[in-house]
Amino acid sequence: MSGLFITFEGGEGSGKSTQIQLLINWFSAHYPGREILTTREPGGTAEAERIRNILVTGSAEKLSVEAEALLMIASRTEHVQKVIVPALRRGAIILCDRFSDSTLVYQGLAHDLSIDKLVAIHEFGFDDLRPDLTFLMDVPAELGLQRAGQRQMAEPGKPSAAESRFEDKGIEFHQRVRAGFLALADRYKERIIIIDASQSAEHSDLQVKEHLINKLPDDL
Ligand code: TMP
Repeated sequence: MSGLFITFEGGEGSGKSTQIQLLINWFSAHYPGREILTTREPGGTAEAERIRNILVTGSAEKLSVEAEALLMIASRTEHVQKVIVPALRRGAIILCDRFSDSTLVYQGLAHDLSIDKLVAIHEFGFDDLRPDLTFLMDVPAELGLQRAGQRQMAEPGKPSAAESRFEDKGIEFHQRVRAGFLALADRYKERIIIIDASQSAEHSDLQVKEHLINKLPDDL
């Protein structure tokens, strides 16, 4: 497949979507005419967005972690088969807000579950396709939750303001999420780049660009 698949990962309020916006501008300027696809998880197709709605709204306890994992991977399977693989075949540059690393961390490491079973379900769905490059936006859980709360208060009418099911899981859960992402970055060092996202968006952007330039394939 001739495209490039980049994902952004991290806890709540880590600034992933801002960085994706900045990268769209950068890729458009440096690769004019090239297809750039931005997408997100859970979501990315009409049916996967319906599954997202089940996952991110309502009370924190409403789903078991196993059911949550299966729904995440079901929505991802739709997204990969119907959007990501066709776009990679067309040669697109894909910028995706979260992907399988989020499941390995939120449903896996943060619950002390072995991630091998989750990997096996990804293999069943879509041969566990992995990104070419992943930026992990690392931010202390307290700061990230504070930012996410401010965003929700600033946009009370938006559907995203109701998507607080994971934010409501509490600070200890989010501290485990942060530690889980850092452990995963250590396991997949060649793919996952850690960005210090605790300061301004400009500070994160500088780090992303510096790493990106070194990591892009010569024949892109
Ligand atoms: P978002 O707020 O970044 O759009 O993501 C929605 C929530 O879903 C976020 O709190 C993280 C959570 N999530 C998981 O728990 N597992 C997953 O596999 C994905 C993609 C997201």
